[in-house]
Amino acid sequence: MLFEEFAQNVPAEKNNITHLQLLLKKIMSSLEIINLSASINDTEILKGLTLSVPEGEVHAIMGPNGSGKSTLAKVMAGHEDYEVTSGDVLLNGTSLLDMEVDERSREGLFLAFQYPAEIPGVSNANFLRAARQARLPEGEEIDAVAFYKELYSKMDQLGMDRKFTGRSVNEGFSGGEKKRNEVLQMMILEPSYAVLDETDSGLDIDALKIVAEGVNAMRSPDRGFLVITHYQRLLDYIVPDYVHVLSDGQIIRSGSKELALELEEKGYDWLTEKQLNKN
Ligand SMILES: Nc1ncnc2c1ncn2[C@@H]1O[C@H](COP(=O)(O)OP(=O)(O)O)[C@@H](O)[C@H]1O
Ligand SMILES: [Mg+2]
Repeated sequence: MLFEEFAQNVPAEKNNITHLQLLLKKIMSSLEIINLSASINDTEILKGLTLSVPEGEVHAIMGPNGSGKSTLAKVMAGHEDYEVTSGDVLLNGTSLLDMEVDERSREGLFLAFQYPAEIPGVSNANFLRAARQARLPEGEEIDAVAFYKELYSKMDQLGMDRKFTGRSVNEGFSGGEKKRNEVLQMMILEPSYAVLDETDSGLDIDALKIVAEGVNAMRSPDRGFLVITHYQRLLDYIVPDYVHVLSDGQIIRSGSKELALELEEKGYDWLTEKQLNKN
């Protein structure tokens, strides 16, 4: 897609080098999902999905249930149940697909799960500390005092009680507590690209605002977000630069944040019907 785009935009005789330089610059500072197809149990779920999230931007993905939103997130993160059959995912120019899950994380990708896993027997604080330690160069030891100071301050920011440091990761947490914990992990890991899969579900309006504030506080020119949501409501608080509609494994429409309002009003059928008529 990128190269097609490049080819189409190159004027016949001049500036080819400039265009190539611009294209490379774009790839080197974005999360690029290129013509990605992926299957589970031989059923194709993603069907040639292309999407570019430049650093500094927040892109939202909306779409009907079962359209492949979580599949996209899990494929990017390296979930072993999914088979990538074509395409690529580049993070600042580096392909993620041949990397192990932890390598993708160290490369700068973060996924907040729609359904966060419980890890009995591992305390939340130890988990976060180990995750942070894994980011340090070999032989370098985390400064425990500074780490806890930062952890507590971030928990305060998210309105999380200190008791959550000693509890096993997500074990017995309510839906909303799990979602806050996902955002806490993101704040501790400081990824360059964060994918948030329905982080709004299970949150009441006050918790939603707190979580959105946490995300907004992390917005920066060198960080990109892919915010997956089924409802427009979250996007009142995390205002996206672009909104994309995922349906049946493909992006069928992209637009500004107003597209989310249109979807809220009209649902998805008008887009999918259009799609059917087009075929
Ligand atoms: N383990 C699986 N085996 C077969 N189909 C699956 C499996 N996991 C997910 N799917 C199917 O993949 C499709 C996309 O699911 P998902 O990515 O979770 O959608 P969304 O997050 O958009 O609601 C659904 O039709 C779902 O039933
Ligand atoms: Mg989902």
